[in-house]
Amino acid sequence: MDLINLIKERRSIRVFTGEKISQENIEQIIDAGVWAPTGCNNQELKFLVIADDEKLQKMLCFKPFFRGVSHIILIFRDMSIPLSNALYKKSKSAKNMSFIDAGLAIQNMVLQAKNDGFDSCIINLTNMHYQKNLKLNLVQKIEKELLKLIGMHRQNRYSLAYFLHKGLKIPNYLEIQCGIVFGFGKNLPDIEKMRHGKNMIKRASLDKYLC
Ligand SMILES: Cc1cc2nc3c(=O)[nH]c(=O)nc-3n(C[C@H](O)[C@H](O)[C@H](O)COP(=O)(O)O)c2cc1C
Repeated sequence: MDLINLIKERRSIRVFTGEKISQENIEQIIDAGVWAPTGCNNQELKFLVIADDEKLQKMLCFKPFFRGVSHIILIFRDMSIPLSNALYKKSKSAKNMSFIDAGLAIQNMVLQAKNDGFDSCIINLTNMHYQKNLKLNLVQKIEKELLKLIGMHRQNRYSLAYFLHKGLKIPNYLEIQCGIVFGFGKNLPDIEKMRHGKNMIKRASLDKYLC
């Protein structure tokens, strides 16, 4: 497919068939992400592949509407690289750079997947998304808020940081940037009719975006 058609035909898909993508294809998708540019050539992104069904279910507890996904890839920034701290924590002008880096890697990955016949959806993974789907009783809610108040995120067993660290054994120096689900889409949306939020999925004509 021409690059422009590939870009236009990639869609965010949220229901998948359950069929599995091969390990070789998943590696090629990550390779596409690795070759994205990074600010200062810091190459700080790390990729965690989740393929095991039990772990997939654990991950999907905070995005329960996804069904039948083959793989989830989590993208982290590696804060153990000395330049990472200088750029993303100490510098005001470069602190957002790793999010741009992750975005570039993600787009390479979803396009590579589309090119190989697979569908995907980017998933925003924040503490808020994680906690929204936890069914906590009153005592647990109070405990969660208290730990939040005193800034103990990693010790807070109701936090995303705790889930990643304890549940998925992610070291603390890897900070979550984003996730992507991959699989074989069940249905492709009809872009002439479909909306997400207040906008049509189909993009408007170019002049709407030019300023
Ligand atoms: C940074 C980012 C975060 C997103 N997070 C989610 C998400 O958490 N859940 C979801 O269903 N879609 C998510 N999406 C997908 C968007 O809703 C989707 O890109 C948009 O509706 C346009 O549709 P399209 O990707 O098919 O062109 C996200 C997209 C981006 C770029």
